Amino acid sequence: MAVKKERRSFLGMSLGLFTAAGGVASLGAMKRSWDPLPSVKAAGFTTIDLSGAQENVLNIEKWRGKPIFVLKHAKDAKKSDRDIVIGDDVYFIAIGLCTHLGCIPAYVSDVQEFHCACHGGVFDANGNVLKSPPPSPLVIPPFKIDGTKLVLGEEGEEYKKMKAAGLVA
Ligand code: FES
Repeated sequence: MAVKKERRSFLGMSLGLFTAAGGVASLGAMKRSWDPLPSVKAAGFTTIDLSGAQENVLNIEKWRGKPIFVLKHAKDAKKSDRDIVIGDDVYFIAIGLCTHLGCIPAYVSDVQEFHCACHGGVFDANGNVLKSPPPSPLVIPPFKIDGTKLVLGEEGEEYKKMKAAGLVA
C-alpha cells in the first residue's frame, strides 16, 4: 500500500510540474504575442544630428523602412519654398523614392539634381520635377527641427507651414 501511495504522489507531483511548465511557456508565448513587432517598434521617430553634414553631399538615412534624403544645400544653391532653414544652413529632406514608380534616384552633385535611372526622371535639388515621367515632387516627410537635430515622424511648426502651403506631398 505504501508503495502505491508513493507512486501516486510521484505521479501527482510530475503532473503538477508538467502543468506548471506548460503554464510558464504559455505566459511566455502570450507576452511575445502582446509585444509590438520589430517593424512596429521601428515605426516611431528618428532623430538625425545635422551638425556633421557637409554641403552638397547627400546623406541617406532610414525612417519607417524608407530611404530619407538629407541634403545640406551649397551656399550658391537656388532658393526654394521647400528649403528647411536650420541656423545658418539650408537643407532639403525628402523620402528618397521617385514619385513615378518608386525607384531611388541618385544625387548628381555637379548639377545639383536627382536623376532616376529607371525611366529618366529628373528632380532639382529641392525635389521639384525637372523632367517627367515623375508626376509630382519628391515627398517631404513629417519633421520637426530640434536645435541642430531633425526629428522625423513628428510634425513641427516648419512642417505644418509647408503642409498648409501644399508643399509637402
Ligand atoms: S521610377 Fe523614377 S522615373 Fe520611373
